Amino acid sequence: MLLLGLLSLAAAVSGVAVPNGQTLSLDDIPYYLSGIPVSKIEGYKSSVFESIPPVGMGIVPMTIIPVTAATDMESVLGDYTRRDDVYRSAFLRVVHLTSQDTKGPAPPFAKFLSVLESAGNELALVNTRRHNSKLATIRLSEDLPSGPYFVSVHSGEIYRAYRLYPDDNLAFIQGAVSDEKGGFQPLPAVTENAMTKDVAVPSRLYYTPTVAKPLAGLRLGVKDIFHIHGLKTSGGSRSYYSLYGVQNITAPSIQRLFDLGAVLVGKTGTVQFANGDRPTADWVDFHCPFNPRGDGYQAPGGSSSGSGAAIGSYEWLDLAVGSDTGGSMRSPAASQGIFGNRPSTGAITLDHVLPLSPALDTAGMFARSGTVWARAVQAWYPHFRQNYTSFPRKVLLGGPGWDGIGTTAEAHQLLTTFVGKLARFLRTNETHVDVARHWDDTHPANIPSLSEMLNLTYATLTSVDQYNLLATPLFADYGAAHGGRRPFINPGPLARWKWGQANGGNASYEVAVQNMTIFRDWWETAGYGGSNAASCSENLFVSIYSVGSTDYRDAYLEPPTTPPLGFSTGRIAVLAGAPEVVVPVGEAAYESRITMQTEYLPVTVALQMARGCDHVLADLVAEIEKKDILRAVQIGPRLYS
Ligand SMILES: *[C@@H]1O[C@H](CO)[C@@H](O)[C@H](O)[C@H]1NC(C)=O
Ligand SMILES: *[C@@H]1O[C@H](CO)[C@@H](O)[C@H](O)[C@H]1NC(C)=O
Ligand SMILES: *[C@@H]1O[C@H](CO)[C@@H](O)[C@H](O)[C@H]1NC(C)=O
Ligand SMILES: *[C@@H]1O[C@H](CO)[C@@H](O)[C@H](O)[C@H]1NC(C)=O
Ligand SMILES: *[C@@H]1O[C@H](CO)[C@@H](O)[C@H](O)[C@H]1NC(C)=O
Ligand SMILES: *[C@@H]1O[C@H](CO)[C@@H](O)[C@H](O)[C@H]1NC(C)=O
Repeated sequence: MLLLGLLSLAAAVSGVAVPNGQTLSLDDIPYYLSGIPVSKIEGYKSSVFESIPPVGMGIVPMTIIPVTAATDMESVLGDYTRRDDVYRSAFLRVVHLTSQDTKGPAPPFAKFLSVLESAGNELALVNTRRHNSKLATIRLSEDLPSGPYFVSVHSGEIYRAYRLYPDDNLAFIQGAVSDEKGGFQPLPAVTENAMTKDVAVPSRLYYTPTVAKPLAGLRLGVKDIFHIHGLKTSGGSRSYYSLYGVQNITAPSIQRLFDLGAVLVGKTGTVQFANGDRPTADWVDFHCPFNPRGDGYQAPGGSSSGSGAAIGSYEWLDLAVGSDTGGSMRSPAASQGIFGNRPSTGAITLDHVLPLSPALDTAGMFARSGTVWARAVQAWYPHFRQNYTSFPRKVLLGGPGWDGIGTTAEAHQLLTTFVGKLARFLRTNETHVDVARHWDDTHPANIPSLSEMLNLTYATLTSVDQYNLLATPLFADYGAAHGGRRPFINPGPLARWKWGQANGGNASYEVAVQNMTIFRDWWETAGYGGSNAASCSENLFVSIYSVGSTDYRDAYLEPPTTPPLGFSTGRIAVLAGAPEVVVPVGEAAYESRITMQTEYLPVTVALQMARGCDHVLADLVAEIEKKDILRAVQIGPRLYS
């Protein structure tokens, strides 16, 4: 007891040293190993590695390779190289061959060694005595999956191998690594970069998808409005980040993704508090992420800007979570030409997520492939109807642009070609619809038009909710911690909150909820959002989301004064609570005033179904990608090579 007391006193006095891991380079590629071992060689003696010159500070790279009597070592190594960007042959210097067979023929270790030695192996360790060579046998305190690791020559402790990638497009707020206890810690490593951070990704070879973990190994970025245990949340605000400090709870929506096997690599940039800032002038607190498409100086859309930019920019990232209240998923999906959705409102809990408006907020997913996107959202959103027997038989084209007005001939061609193939796939013909006129046609003449009734609805719901739920407590907490001072707020959210209070506050909010409900009820009965026993959704409602027009990030605009007003096609899914996904259908040329060359920007459409039909919508997207009606996109300036 006394000794323990003295020790903790000593710790308190002298400070506790916490290892932050180390960075090192192998073949000029930067790696990171955290200070937290995942296993250890039992009864370790340093003589094990005496023939191997360490890299970094007392570290040797090691690859764990599970083997059986049937293993073809050459094809295993080829598979590792193909599947994983972290593994390279430099990790073969030491290999640990692990065999689980205790019966049957022993693995042919001598044969493995001749392949491994010609690939650069200097030391092979095995976990079994079932061999007739001089191979050293070791035991690990914890079994580890295949892949590259780092081992300390001092302690025999084994660390995960992370490859460090630069976040050249400023898509991330912060990199994160596992604390190996179910939580995360900020990545304490950076290599040389102008203004940007690094992101550390673990080897893909550690993970194998299963029925319970269908997303195993998919690398995930999360918009920095979702709280994650061990990390601070910025919400795009420096004040918020420093005031509230390290979060001690992971949002259950994100925990569900971890439970499904997704691997967090960092938090991504967001428009402040998930509002609608534009790059120049509005992004005061943090720098706006860069959209990789075209000339690289187009706005990334928002508010899930970092998540969208990251998926458009980085091959090493598979999935990114964002949120959509009024277009915050769909706009970055359109700007980056990737797959991104808002689900049915309420598809997944948003507890421990910064609110814009709980009446409208949703969590969505970005991916470069429709198949990967569909797999992720179907695993993620529980409780949706899955007993449908066909896809919708009606394709409705709504919103502006289908007549070619406001689009280039090239974009128009892409859009009509896509719709033609889609309708043929669904064995139907598309029908043009006019939502506003349909409203008028189904109501008495004295009822206000949609554009009158819904003009202020979104603006009121978001500005009043966020003022009550985020701004008011933030101002109180910040003031209490800073002698009554106000925190800095970007011009956009500040204008929105002020507008909400100046335009009726809570009283207007009640009216906005009524207006939204009237619209939703109509959309699901007399409108185009009805359900169907066979196809879940009566219709597939298709609208144009981007046509390849420019949105330069250096354009100076009028300062923001109000939330977005008016009614547009993009508001339908928002107010009806219906699932909608933006998908790329091609890219259109433009003459860049930045590069003075022809560049290309994405052309996208939004596909919407009835509320609750999220899984059918995901199946449709995966299916039409399989049929080549949609195509997975690549990273960088062009969608397709
Ligand atoms: C998490 O942090 C909050 C706010 O600081 C605190 O009230 C709560 O007790 C903490 N919970 C845990 C499990 O530490
Ligand atoms: C689609 O339109 C074409 C041309 O008008 C017609 O021949 C065909 O029968 C229609 N198909 C369906 C499924 O309605
Ligand atoms: C929408 O509201 C704004 C602000 O009150 C007003 O200026 C505009 O005329 C309204 N538009 C419609 C269609 O009602
Ligand atoms: C609600 O709808 C009425 C028209 O029916 C409109 O005058 C009013 O501005 C709307 N208010 C909000 C907050 O949506
Ligand atoms: C508005 O409503 C919120 C939430 O119901 C409440 O906390 C707040 O006190 C109300 N504000 C005013 C000015 O009544
Ligand atoms: C699927 O289930 C829903 C409700 O659970 C039901 O209304 C519908 O008729 C079912 N559809 C089919 C095709 O069985």
